[in-house]
Amino acid sequence: MTEDLKRQAGEYAAQFVRDGQIVGLGSGSTARYVTLCLARRLREGSLRGILAIPTSNETAALAEREGIPLTTLEEHPVVDITLDGADEIDPHLNVIKGLGGFLLREKIVAFATRLEIIVADGSKWVPRLGTRSPVPVEVVRFGWQNTLRALERTGAIPTLRRRNGQPYLTDEGHLIVDCLYQGGIEDPAALHNTLNNIPGVVENGLFLGMVHRAVIASAEGVRVVERA
Ligand code: A5P
Repeated sequence: MTEDLKRQAGEYAAQFVRDGQIVGLGSGSTARYVTLCLARRLREGSLRGILAIPTSNETAALAEREGIPLTTLEEHPVVDITLDGADEIDPHLNVIKGLGGFLLREKIVAFATRLEIIVADGSKWVPRLGTRSPVPVEVVRFGWQNTLRALERTGAIPTLRRRNGQPYLTDEGHLIVDCLYQGGIEDPAALHNTLNNIPGVVENGLFLGMVHRAVIASAEGVRVVERA
């Protein structure tokens, strides 16, 4: 069921992409449907001439396999449209990203993007950020235990992310500390700055004021929400 909603959101949002655009390709299981749909549109000829910038090695591999032409931020520093997933979306279209581990490249691409669109199933919609998801924080390996303690002092319950028993490493070779704020985040902007001011923190998963549109699929249908 959720899988079908992810597919619906992804395929709906993929229709916003126009011929010749530079397209940011998001990461995660919902954004995957966008990539697959864009590849299908290219094959069918209903979309032409796009160049895509993937936000992760995983997405790059999928896009290559599906025959989507790729480019880089070096060649195209401005991205027309990016379609990406999220872990939580609030009514201001502020979001938490990074449970998939790709927040750094996702944020760099979002920052370069004219129209950032989030695709998600309805379970990601929350009244307040931090309600169900921790804030993933990407940190450098050097001195990470100190960085984790500093993150704890922001009021978080911090956990070093592991995969198969080993510390999880991002595409850029960093660690991720998942920071849970019980009861939700009171002031996301203040927290964003506090987190990024900690030495050792590379970036955090709060995307504030970066998202222009959200495409949310639920049992009632697909809803498009524009940032006010
Ligand atoms: C990847 O780092 C994330 O930002 C994803 O966009 C987010 O975790 C959503 O992923 P799903 O679509 O798989 O839920």
